[in-house]
Amino acid sequence: MNAQQLIDTARTLVAADKGLLAMDESNPTCNQRFARLGIPQTVEARRSYRELIVTTPGLDESISGVILYDETVRQQKKDGTPFVKAITDAGIIPGIKVDTGAKDMAGHPGEKVTEGLDGLRDRLKGYFQIGARFAKWRAVIAVSDGIPSRGCIEANAQALARYAALCQETGLVPVVEPEVLMDGDHSLERCREVTEEVLRTVFNQLNGQRVMLEGMILKPNMVLPGLTCPPKQEVKEVAAGEQQYQVRLTDRQQDEVKDVDEVADATVKCLLRAVPAAVPGIAFLSGGQSAELASARLNAMNVRFKSRLPWALAFSFARAIQQPALEIWQGQEAHVLAAQQALNHRARCNRAARRGEYDAAMEGLSTTTSIPKLKKPAA
Ligand code: 13P
Repeated sequence: MNAQQLIDTARTLVAADKGLLAMDESNPTCNQRFARLGIPQTVEARRSYRELIVTTPGLDESISGVILYDETVRQQKKDGTPFVKAITDAGIIPGIKVDTGAKDMAGHPGEKVTEGLDGLRDRLKGYFQIGARFAKWRAVIAVSDGIPSRGCIEANAQALARYAALCQETGLVPVVEPEVLMDGDHSLERCREVTEEVLRTVFNQLNGQRVMLEGMILKPNMVLPGLTCPPKQEVKEVAAGEQQYQVRLTDRQQDEVKDVDEVADATVKCLLRAVPAAVPGIAFLSGGQSAELASARLNAMNVRFKSRLPWALAFSFARAIQQPALEIWQGQEAHVLAAQQALNHRARCNRAARRGEYDAAMEGLSTTTSIPKLKKPAA
């Protein structure tokens, strides 16, 4: 292991307000996303789509690294240039997803444990030889009644730590991804509690496995309410002395302002408690948020806290960068340029969010109907 190289790569991945583009969907996940848009689910369609991404002009201005999948890391552009060479020539660092997926956990209904440790040392050596310089492993933690269990959190944290140690041994920067899922009706507070417990456990295990924190990136979820968490409500007493309450939904716009600030505050509070200052960067996953909200929430964190944080707050989005481009492309050669523009646009929005300069106007939306400008909180 060359410690300085690992540190340099980790720092480069979060330098210059850039972030990561996750284009490492497994074949089943990629096929599902294609199927929804009527795109053929073939090796060639997946290759063409990935060529569209890696040949997007100007992508390197906002993207420091891309995460590839095993199929993609071995593929080439139509003209025969390996993707890894095209990416490296563009000034972007190639990375690779190395887990083999989250599987049902024995004895733990509703919970998953991520597999892929068997044979990992040799696979990592192979990826390094192909040109990868960082690697990702995703653990998924579901939230529901009685879960996550300690057993699930510990098993996943230990696998993450063992993978991270093997990565560093091989010269690959580990991107450690413990994802607390958005599915469910849990509150923002519950997500914060679970995320904090998961991160504390992950860092205990990383220390136990002697992972060098300066040579890794953390890829966590933002702290968010569950997707089916009931909307915020204001309860207003309408008749003094009577036990009658009128429940009304708050104005959508106020909800958005509060939501963005609350998510920023809860996420940063949680990270400050659980993530050691030696870690150079935190690159969030998007987890199913809309592309605009993911940018706005990252922006809010940087506007409100950037100057006071020990680590860079960056992005490592898949859907929140790719989804608009995929919807434009639809498998059609004639749509490639428009799709690349959409991809670049999202990448630029997220770079702006790292600077705390993202604004709804960048989306061509009226500031009265979407994401608000944000203010620094009182010190
Ligand atoms: P999303 O940004 O779509 O959550 O994907 C990030 C990722 O890499 C999942 O492993």
